[in-house]
Amino acid sequence: MSKYPQTYADWQADPAAFWANAAKAIDWFTPPTSTFNSDKGAYGRWFDGATCNTCYNCVDRHVEAGHGDRAAVIYDSPVTGTAKTYSYAQTKDEVSALASVLRGLGVTKGDRVIIYMPMVPEAIFAMLACARLGAIHSVVFGGFAARELATRIDDAAPKAIISASCGIEPNRVIAYKPLLDEAIEIASAKPDHCVILQRDTQTCELIEGRDVDYAQSVQSAIAAGEGTECVPVETTDPLYILYTSGTTGQPKGVVRDNGGHMVALRWSMEYHYDIKPGETFWAASDVGWVVGHSYICYGPLLNGSATVVFEGKPVGTPDAGAFWRVIQDHKVAAMFTAPTALRAIKKVDPSGLLIQDYDLSNFRTLFLAGERSDPATIEWAQEKLDRLVIDHWWQTETGWAMSGNPVGLGAFPIKLGSPGKPMPGYDIRVLDDEGNPVEAGTLGNIVCKLPLPPSGFPTLWNAEERFRSSYMEEFPGYYATSDAGMIDEDGYVFIMARTDDIINVAGHRLSTGAMEEVISGHEDIAECAVVGAADALKGQMPLGFFVVNDGVDRDPADLEKELVQLVRAKIGAVAAFKLAVPVKRLPKTRSGKVLRGTMQKIANGETYKIPAAIDDTMILTEIHEALGARNLIGKPND
Ligand code: COA
Ligand code: AMP
Repeated sequence: MSKYPQTYADWQADPAAFWANAAKAIDWFTPPTSTFNSDKGAYGRWFDGATCNTCYNCVDRHVEAGHGDRAAVIYDSPVTGTAKTYSYAQTKDEVSALASVLRGLGVTKGDRVIIYMPMVPEAIFAMLACARLGAIHSVVFGGFAARELATRIDDAAPKAIISASCGIEPNRVIAYKPLLDEAIEIASAKPDHCVILQRDTQTCELIEGRDVDYAQSVQSAIAAGEGTECVPVETTDPLYILYTSGTTGQPKGVVRDNGGHMVALRWSMEYHYDIKPGETFWAASDVGWVVGHSYICYGPLLNGSATVVFEGKPVGTPDAGAFWRVIQDHKVAAMFTAPTALRAIKKVDPSGLLIQDYDLSNFRTLFLAGERSDPATIEWAQEKLDRLVIDHWWQTETGWAMSGNPVGLGAFPIKLGSPGKPMPGYDIRVLDDEGNPVEAGTLGNIVCKLPLPPSGFPTLWNAEERFRSSYMEEFPGYYATSDAGMIDEDGYVFIMARTDDIINVAGHRLSTGAMEEVISGHEDIAECAVVGAADALKGQMPLGFFVVNDGVDRDPADLEKELVQLVRAKIGAVAAFKLAVPVKRLPKTRSGKVLRGTMQKIANGETYKIPAAIDDTMILTEIHEALGARNLIGKPND
């Protein structure tokens, strides 16, 4: 019998007592004066009045408790042929020395530090070193182009940036340093210093006076016996800012606090993921995403477990057995990935033959999130792995699962297509557009009753007004998730689609609005629209439509190439923008709103109703014809 119903009921009966109890697993420098202060912030603040340090809880306390020899960070890099394990004691030395280097460069409590790094252990050390100093890190995913990095530099105004000479993709080496230099060139808020990790695969030139060599400076700090103590911060002080896609080209800087984040993540490691100290947990994501923050870096380390930093892909590094090899080699007890990674494996190894080559005896559970898990993928994984496969739903804004199936409390029966039931802390409701509750099994807007639980974002960096208008105003008293779906009569949540212009490409959250801004910037383009077309591997792929300015007489194929290149250069390869279809006109309502939803349905080969407010129905026929001529109707990339 699962203890979930009782645990959820305990939380409902007394949320403060529930979280006060969970908070006992964290070491505070001074304990909280209140578990929840409803007078602070937009909806209250957790553990107000306490002081703490996240790095201390992730690293030092495990060493002080005598677990210094335990594995903390396991680096496994098929793209460089490296595997290396750092114990908790070694991690402490590395982090403390890097913190000393940063302090020497003038970084102190409250300063921002941008981290733009590939999947190397130094990325984790960099995050922890910032946390140690009370500095606020902001990790930017390596697949973003210079302009995106520059936008984040300008918003966060970092004192320093930590980066590397290059990242390594299976098909190419990506020189990070030119991207970094270009971004700093574009940005107005220039950092004082950059700390650069020189990688053997490809080194880079350092700029004298500004750039510092990561390894050399850390080694000198270690040799000189320099270390840094953990600086006490307020629990409500920011630990990090993580930029995520919003409805415009300006990303949203989601702020995470120190105290609540620790409490929620530590709780989730034990009760959701069922991982014990000393066991290995592996999230096959990237440190640039929230999954990487919560479950490559902080969650496992808060729990005294080992985490795997994997610099590779599910397929092609070298084959579709990479995941199973890592699970075997590092005795992984549970792993977390996005369904798209499984679809990639299944495509190459549909019978799961490679699974049989490895010893998975330590492996108990596979967790999936980041996008909707299609039942076929879950069923394949269940059958081939013969393990629990758990879908769970969350967002950058929350930092941990809003719904799931807490294995540590005993899993309840799985319903395919549902990421489980609300987690303690989340009172999830489904409302219609007027804010009225809908009946069980009816689609609507998914919202969470405020307050959000510990780890929930208290604001957006430098954008309190946007925070309130984007999340708090549409449904007063609730957090608007921008996801649409339903809750069935048994209390299972189903997440079906976004209600805004965000699309989910290979588990990556991307804004079609941001892509449209780039395309509209092309001199020959009059107007454009980007929609998320269904894709068998990546879930969705962006599909662009463009209308050229009057008098432009250019080969549409050339224009398409230019637009694809423009999006890649301005947003980055991660946008996966590969298709732009010329059309004569865009379908609109009489008030001028572009009918993106209808265009998406046409592209997906789905049935659709002609919108009542449409200006000219002929345009839908034109869209049909334009897509049909390119054979792009119905799962274009299948
Ligand atoms: N730095 C620079 N470029 C990067 C990058 C990084 N860290 N990560 C990805 N890219 C590039 C890729 O090389 C690719 O470029 P290309 O268009 O020149 O081939 C592009 O960005 C798109 O990358 P990706 O979405 O990873 O597509 P892919 O075809 O290389 O791989 C999958 C497809 C399914 C194997 C891959 O997306 C995957 O492993 N996804 C797992 C999902 C995941 O980690 N989600 C995070 C949230 S849980
Ligand atoms: P991100 O903030 O990048 O983690 O993306 C969050 C979005 O991804 C959510 O708002 C959902 O749209 C989607 N998402 C995440 N997990 C799931 C899931 N398990 N099922 C369906 N959608 C999901």
